[in-house]
Amino acid sequence: AKNPLRVLVTGAAGQIGYALVPMIARGIMLGPDQPVILHMLDIEPAAEALNGVKMELIDAAFPLLKGIVATTDVVEACKDVNIAVMVGGFPRKEGMERKDVMSKNVSIYKAQASALEKHAAPNCKVLVVANPANTNALILKEFAPSIPAKNITCLTRLDHNRAMGQISERLKVHVSDVKNVIIWGNHSSTQYPDVNHATVTTSKGEKPVREAVADDNWLNTEFITTVQQRGAAIIKARKLSSALSAASSACDHIRDWVLGTPKGTWVSMGVYSDGSYGIPEGLIYSFPVTCEKGEWSIVKGLKVDEFSRAKMDATAEELAEEKTLAYSCLN
Ligand code: NAI
Repeated sequence: AKNPLRVLVTGAAGQIGYALVPMIARGIMLGPDQPVILHMLDIEPAAEALNGVKMELIDAAFPLLKGIVATTDVVEACKDVNIAVMVGGFPRKEGMERKDVMSKNVSIYKAQASALEKHAAPNCKVLVVANPANTNALILKEFAPSIPAKNITCLTRLDHNRAMGQISERLKVHVSDVKNVIIWGNHSSTQYPDVNHATVTTSKGEKPVREAVADDNWLNTEFITTVQQRGAAIIKARKLSSALSAASSACDHIRDWVLGTPKGTWVSMGVYSDGSYGIPEGLIYSFPVTCEKGEWSIVKGLKVDEFSRAKMDATAEELAEEKTLAYSCLN
């Protein structure tokens, strides 16, 4: 039998945490033959709720779950973890300025970066979910210089899955017959959901999504804004932000990263830019990637038209501004 892997979830007493930990304990993230030990971190005001989650994990009697660490101590939480899913953060509250939210999260991610760097297992893989996800991941990277940059990523897989969902609804095909959409850039409303290389499998074989939809106007306007605004639409409907879809997409992100993407398929991940597609180095930006043997690589050489270029640059610009804002909070 395989040795258990230690998986950290921060903010584990929150909404996404509550949806995510049972998925991990059931093998949805790392596979049905991979035992896990769950490390759950939250802050003191949530300690009792966190303990309640631990009680429920015990009660669910998961065969793959070999241990539970539930703690408010960041060092204990990070000890020897192989995977770290960073969901904990400070939410934007009414009347708060962007800068105030940024400042709170920058200090959280700076502190947690040091703890991970010192105490996590070598080669620990990190996924940042908490917003601003790309910039939190960048701060984490900057303050954990001994963790390789390629091990620090942020979640845009939810946006990727949302884009596939919209195409599937529009074409009345199953979502698993849609592939190779791309989310470029920031996990924010400036993200660019791109279907120019996406395909759909029909009874007559594989077809470009653009051809199957046959409505460029819809693809260039409503489709894009629907995906960009989907988070807000969920909040409006549920009075709470996306949680089950975020948790499920976080599992998709880690599973594909660790176990590999299917042949001929790519996914979107927020990763440290190497300058591909003219995106400045030094930003965590969502790119199309394939994964093999636990490593992602950016899909190169895709043709980028003028429409896409402008949208890819706009979201890069927003990330550069966020980076400046984040750095101004450090001083
Ligand atoms: P939530 O407010 O229900 O849970 C957040 C939890 O984090 C709370 O239990 C809180 O006590 C905890 N926390 C706060 N500071 C912490 C710290 N320093 N260390 C450890 N835990 C801490 O929020 P929810 O709905 O679970 O969302 C979590 C984050 O994920 C938010 O930032 C949200 O904006 C983001 N998000 C990102 C998505 C993505 O696709 N990247 C999608 C949906 C949400």
